[in-house]
Amino acid sequence: MPTHTTHSPPATHSPPASRAWTPDSWRACPIRQVPAYPDLTKLEDMEARLRRFPPLVFAGEARRLKAALAQASEGKAFVLQGGDCAESFTDFTANVIRDTFRVLLQMAVVLTFGASLPVVKMGRMAGQFAKPRSSDTETVDGITLPSYRGDIINGPEFSAEARIPDPQRMEFGYFQSASTLNLLRAFSSGGYADLHEVHRWNLDFVERSPLSERYKILAQRIDETLAFMAACGMTSATTRDLRETDFYISHEALLLPYEQALARVDSTTGDWYGCSAHFLWIGDRTRQADGAHVEFLRGLKNPLGMKVGPTQEPDDLLRLLDLLNPANEAGRITLISRMGAEKVGARLPPLLRAVERAGHKVLWLCDPMHGNTVTTGSKLKTRNFDAILNEVRGFFDVHAAEGTWAGGVHVEMTGSDVTECIGGAHQLSETDLTERYETFCDPRLNAEQSLELAFLVAEELKARREPAAAPPLAAQ
Ligand code: PEP
Ligand code: CO
Repeated sequence: MPTHTTHSPPATHSPPASRAWTPDSWRACPIRQVPAYPDLTKLEDMEARLRRFPPLVFAGEARRLKAALAQASEGKAFVLQGGDCAESFTDFTANVIRDTFRVLLQMAVVLTFGASLPVVKMGRMAGQFAKPRSSDTETVDGITLPSYRGDIINGPEFSAEARIPDPQRMEFGYFQSASTLNLLRAFSSGGYADLHEVHRWNLDFVERSPLSERYKILAQRIDETLAFMAACGMTSATTRDLRETDFYISHEALLLPYEQALARVDSTTGDWYGCSAHFLWIGDRTRQADGAHVEFLRGLKNPLGMKVGPTQEPDDLLRLLDLLNPANEAGRITLISRMGAEKVGARLPPLLRAVERAGHKVLWLCDPMHGNTVTTGSKLKTRNFDAILNEVRGFFDVHAAEGTWAGGVHVEMTGSDVTECIGGAHQLSETDLTERYETFCDPRLNAEQSLELAFLVAEELKARREPAAAPPLAAQ
C-alpha cells in the first residue's frame, strides 16, 4: 500500500458506507488540501516513527468528552471551544499556553453563569497545526510560491525552501503537542484553574474595561454566588470542582498521514481512536462525503466535529451524518456552523430543520469567525467584533425560532494582547492592526476582546433563559 496520497480516486472507488473501514482506507479516496511531499520515503519513515510513539490522549478521556458533549446536545451543558487559528513552532512558550488557557477559563466562568449550566472546555490547542488554504499558491511582488499550510507541514517564511513540505515537522508537532498538553494538564489539576482565582482575574478585567459598569453587574453576582457557596462550606479546599477543571484538546484533522500514525486500538473496547487529540474536526473545505477526510474519521470513535459553511446543502449534510454517525449516538457529532453574520439567518434554518426531521442527534456550535473574515486596504485579514457578536446572536435567534439548543461557541482567540480583529470596547481600528499583528493564519480575538465576547454572550444567554422579568413573588 503506498503511503502517499492521491488526488484522483482509483477506478474501483466505491461509496464509503459500503466499504470496510481500515486506518488507511482513506488513501483510496479523493483528497483535498494535501501537501506535495517531495520525498515519499521520508514521509513513510516519519509515519512509521510516529506509529511507535505513545498516544497523546487516552480513549477513556475521549469517551468522557463524548458523554459531556451528549449532555450539551440535550441542552444540559454549553460548550466553549477556542484557541489559535494555527499554533506555531516559534511562538511556543509557557506564557503563550498559560495566557490562552487562562482566558478560556475566564470566559468559561462567565458563560457558566450566563447559561446556568456546566461549560465543556476544549482548546484549539496542543495540535492545531495544519491549515487548509483557499489557494495552493501565494504571490508576493510577482513571485509565486506554494502556500503556507501550517507549521506541521511547511514554514511561514516567504521563501521557496521554507514552503517545501517536510515530514520532519510532524515530529516537532507531536512533541510540541505533548508538552503543551502536559502543561495544560498540570494547570487544570494543579491549582491554577481554581475558580476563585479565575473569578479574581475577571474582576481585574472588569475594572479595566471601558464597559466596566455594564459587566460589573454580572461579575458581582458571581462574587455573591461564590461567597454564598463558601458560607455553605463549598470552598476550593473542600470541593474538587472548584479547584480543578476538565480541559480537552482539539484540532482540525487535516494532515491524514499524521492522524493515521497516531490512531490506536483501545485495548478496553477494541475500537480505533484518534490519539492526537480528544476531539477532531473536519474542515469546511474537506467535508466531501466520498472524500478522504470523512472516510478516515468515520472509523474513529472519538467525538467528531464538522464545520458547516454557507455552501452546505441539507441533503448532503444528512448523508454525512449517516456516514459519520450511523448509530445516531449522542455526543458523537458536533456541527460547527460558520455562515457569516449576514448569512446565518438564511442558511442555518434549512439545515437545522433537515437534521431535526431526520432525527439525527447533533450538538450545534457557532463559529462566528470564519464567515466574517475581511481583507483591509493594506491586505491584512481581519474580523469585526460586531460581526462576530452578530453571528452569535443570529445563531441563538435561529435556534430559538426552531426550538433547538444553541450549544456553544467556537472562537479563534489568544491570551496575548494582539491587534488582529477590529472593534470591541477599546475600539481597535484598521490603522491599529499593524501594531501587534502576529497571527500565522487567521485574525484572532485578543484577551480583552475574548472576555468581552464572553460577557456579552453570557448576557444574551441569561436574557434568553429569563425572557421576561420574573414575576414578583407575591404574584406567583
Ligand atoms: C479553521 O477553523 O481554522 C478553519 C480553517 O475553518 P473552516 O474549515 O471553517 O474554514
Ligand atoms: Co482559522
